[in-house]
Amino acid sequence: MTRILAIETSCDETAAAVVADGRHLLGNQVATQIDLHRRFGGVFPEVASRQHVLAIQTVIQDALAEAGVGRVADLDAIAVTHGPGLAGSLLVGVSAAKGLSLASGLPLLAVNHLEGHIYSNWIQVEGRPIFPEDEFPVVVLIVSGGHTELILMTGHGRYRRLGGTLDDAAGEAFDKVARLLDLGYPGGPAIQRAAQDGDPARYDLPRPLGQFVGKAHQEHRFNFSFSGLKTAVLNLTRSLDAQGVDLHSPDVQRDLAASFQAAAADVLVAKTLDAAQTFSARRVCICGGVSANSALRKSAQAASDAAGLPLQIPPLFLCTDNAAMIGSAAYYRSRSQGGMAGELGMDIFANLPLPEAV
Ligand code: KG4
Ligand code: ZN
Repeated sequence: MTRILAIETSCDETAAAVVADGRHLLGNQVATQIDLHRRFGGVFPEVASRQHVLAIQTVIQDALAEAGVGRVADLDAIAVTHGPGLAGSLLVGVSAAKGLSLASGLPLLAVNHLEGHIYSNWIQVEGRPIFPEDEFPVVVLIVSGGHTELILMTGHGRYRRLGGTLDDAAGEAFDKVARLLDLGYPGGPAIQRAAQDGDPARYDLPRPLGQFVGKAHQEHRFNFSFSGLKTAVLNLTRSLDAQGVDLHSPDVQRDLAASFQAAAADVLVAKTLDAAQTFSARRVCICGGVSANSALRKSAQAASDAAGLPLQIPPLFLCTDNAAMIGSAAYYRSRSQGGMAGELGMDIFANLPLPEAV
């Protein structure tokens, strides 16, 4: 059994986990900073890195204790997110991981945060179906606060980027629309809450990049654009306001949130299923913070059932940032590379694309 201690501090969650053989969670701790950033309406980078410094020791100790690990040196490796993310935040996790690696003599593995999100779907969770670990190709949709990427995965660590957002990430669109509708922070969960009993068909919002033909269709078939949808919501609220509609009345807010959520989910699901069928995927995986969205989960399930394709979306606690997914990604990457080459000299990268190799 290979046991990895994983550390994740790329944004506003301080997280540590112990993962066995890439699939089994022995310990998993996340200290969220959401309450600290709420009054800024978004993540305040300096506040985030300082809070990581305050929390990291305890989070690591709690994850080790939960896993019943007495000494770090009894494990097999230490993995840490080294990008993409906020530079100051990444630095805290990487420095802590380097210190532990030096003290314990364990190899230090660098993990790409996006690859981490992908592997959140490889972790086995009690009561949920177990999927084969080595069955490819898989089409993966990563939808988080910073990224919207559609990936064809042909093996462990083998990715081809099919498309991504041309402007705002999906989570960013949720956050901005929530702000526009005065729904609070963080925007994704706020929109979902507001939309609960809303009518998604009350307001007709655009499904961008869906209706191109010819060359533009080929070029943009697997790309996304959310800024137009956000502007459409803005224009709609202005016109409703001009008509004397109270934008804060619960039924208007509810239907606006539900209509936006449905438009975003429709585009994400349609393109993901189109890619899965085009590339004969064996299954579809969705991951990242926005994959916690219940409307997206429901509509993805309905579409993949109709297409006869298995669908995987992580349980809610593995959708948003966590270290378990980092430990899983590190395990499969070193397994496919035939060993754990330590990278004690690793640097951090605020912008780090998913490595492409098919
Ligand atoms: O993956 P994540 O935790 O962090 C990044 O890597 O960015 O994703 C955070 C994003 C935020 O934009 C947040 O609003 C969104 O995920 N999110 C949701 C939901 N929960 C979190 N979006 C829609 N519905 C949700 N339930
Ligand atoms: Zn993330």
